This record gives sequence, C-alpha cells and structure tokens, in this order.
Amino acid sequence: MLRIKWPSQILLVLALIFSGFANATPSDAKVAGFAGADYWQVVKKGDTGRTQDQGAEAGQLINVKGEEWRYWRNQWITPAGAYAIGGTLALLAIFYLLVGQKKLDHPRTGNLIERWKRLDRANHWTVAVLFIILAVSGLSILYGKFFLRTALGDSLWANYIMLCKLAHNYLGPLFVIGLLFMIVRWIKHNFFNRTDLMWFLKGGGIIGKAHPSAGYMNGGEKVWFWLLTIVGIIVCASGLVLDFQNFGQVRETMQIANLLHAAGSLILIAASFGHIYIGTIGTEGALEGMKTGYVDETWAKQHHDLWYEEVKGKSSND
Ligand code: HEM
Repeated sequence: MLRIKWPSQILLVLALIFSGFANATPSDAKVAGFAGADYWQVVKKGDTGRTQDQGAEAGQLINVKGEEWRYWRNQWITPAGAYAIGGTLALLAIFYLLVGQKKLDHPRTGNLIERWKRLDRANHWTVAVLFIILAVSGLSILYGKFFLRTALGDSLWANYIMLCKLAHNYLGPLFVIGLLFMIVRWIKHNFFNRTDLMWFLKGGGIIGKAHPSAGYMNGGEKVWFWLLTIVGIIVCASGLVLDFQNFGQVRETMQIANLLHAAGSLILIAASFGHIYIGTIGTEGALEGMKTGYVDETWAKQHHDLWYEEVKGKSSND
C-alpha cells in the first residue's frame, strides 16, 4: 500500500507536476488536469506539445517511431548480422580445411616487381587498422551486452564500452578520410571489363590449377573495391549523421541513419573476413606485396598475368 508522508512527499509530487509536466503539455490534449488518461493517450501517440525548450522535437515526449526502430534493429539487423559474420567465418574455415592455401605453381624467381607504392601501403594499412578498431568497438556496442557484460563484470564492462564508444566516435571521421583517399587513388584500377567476366565464369580459379587471366586487379578484388565504395560511403555518411548531431537532425533521421549504419557495417565486416583470408593464409605471396610493395615475378604471372605482361612490355621498351 502506498503510504504518503505529509508534507514532504506531497510537496515533491507538486514540484514534479509544476516543473516537468507544465513544460510539456501536448497541444491537442485539451486536458484540464495533469497526467490523466486523455493526457497520456495523446503523449503515447507522439503528438507534439508546448514547451519552453525550443530544440527540435522538444515538445514531443514519446517518439513513437522509436518502437519501429527498435524492432528493425533488434529483430532483424542484430540476428542477421550475427548469422552473416558467423556464417562467413564458418565457410572460410571449412574452405581452408578442404582446399587449403593457394600455392605458387612454380618456384619463385627472385625477381621482384613493384606492385604498391609507399603511399598506397600507408593508406591501405591506416584504413585497415581503423576499420578493425571500428569493427571491434562497433560489434561490442551491438553484441557486447549479450556476453561481454557477464564475462567482464559490470565495472570493467562499463569502462570498456565507454572506451569503445569514444574510439568509435573519434576514429570514424579519420576512417572516412582514409577511405575516400583510397577510393580516389585506386578507382582507375577497378572498372570492370570482359576479362573480369571470364574470371567470374571460371570461378576466379579458386579451386584447382586453372588461373583465369587478370589485369592489375582481378574480378574478386574489384567486387571488394566497389562494395567498399558503395556500402562504405553509406556507412560513412550515416556515421557522420550520428556523430555530429548539431545539424538539426530529428530522432527519425538518427534512427534511419543508425539502421543503415549497422546493416552496412555488418555487410562490410563479413566481407572483410573474405578479403583478409585471401590476403593472408588463403594465397601464398599476396601479403608480401602489401607489406613490402614488391611481389615475385612468379606470383605476378600466376595471379595477374595481363598486368605482368604490361609491366614486362614497358620495361623491355625502356
Ligand atoms: C588485416 C587485414 C588486411 C589484410 C591482411 C589485407 C591484405 C591485403 C593485400 C595483401 C592486398 C593486396 C592484394 C593484391 O596485391 O592484389 C590488399 C588490397 C586491398 N585491401 Fe586489404 N587487407 C586487410 C584489410 C583491409 C581492410 C580493412 C580494407 C578496407 C576497409 C582493405 C581494403 C583493400 C583494398 C580496397 C585493396 C585493393 C584491392 C582492391 O581494389 O580490391 N583491406 N589487402
């Protein structure tokens, strides 16, 4: 039973009524008293009311679209992202166990060809490191509460997730700059052509000894590039909408930005596992190029024969 101690609790209730409720009375409510059933019905519909606060949507106590956002985020994006990420990891593990690393067919010649300039490598690794930090912090924000909170305990969890949020908010804009630079610098290598069509028809030669022809980039790499360009720009733009809330965005804009940001990032994270696999344990010699800038002639001939011939043609003309 509710026992009211006069006068302190009565005074507290009155103070609340006159401070909070008086500031936000829905315009349509036409309610004489405070907090009656009619009043709450109007509030729950998301109607706007009068308030001294002039901020966007300040008079709207409940944002009804928020329920829709929660539904899409919790019922669709969160589980779909977990399946996409877990599924990709599982497929790559099975593929590796069944097929193993794509080895060089012939011994290395020891002759090296320049593939990536210093600026390309600096750009790639900056973007890659930022992407990994953003992925780990972003995944922690979305999924951490399901397992990390229990594993770390409340106090450590609170500090960890605050660190994730800060890292995510501050490093995001740097990633945007790095990604845009990468897109502008590498777009010239990534337009699709007939060679790529043949490359796809032959399954990229991922299984067996066949090596479909490829120029500087093969069809698979071009898909990764365009995925990063299109989905990456959506993720970056929505991230900036969420990061900089000072342009008058209303809650609905933020909710849409949040859904696009989460869905796009999860697609990129799942795809990045494929890229990282191929760039490391999946293909002998691929990482050398991005580490040192140079690849062996044998690697160049096997994976990018048309580019190899172009480079050789140029150097024999010199
Ligand atoms: C540890 C993580 C990563 C590793 C080991 C890795 C490795 C590599 C390697 C070896 C190449 C050169 C392939 C070649 O010479 O043909 C490459 C190219 C590339 N990487 Fe990564 N990478 C990583 C992460 C990332 C991330 C996170 C991104 C983007 C967010 C990225 C974007 C690219 C792009 C766009 C290319 C050029 C190929 C293309 O245009 O598709 N990489 N990477």
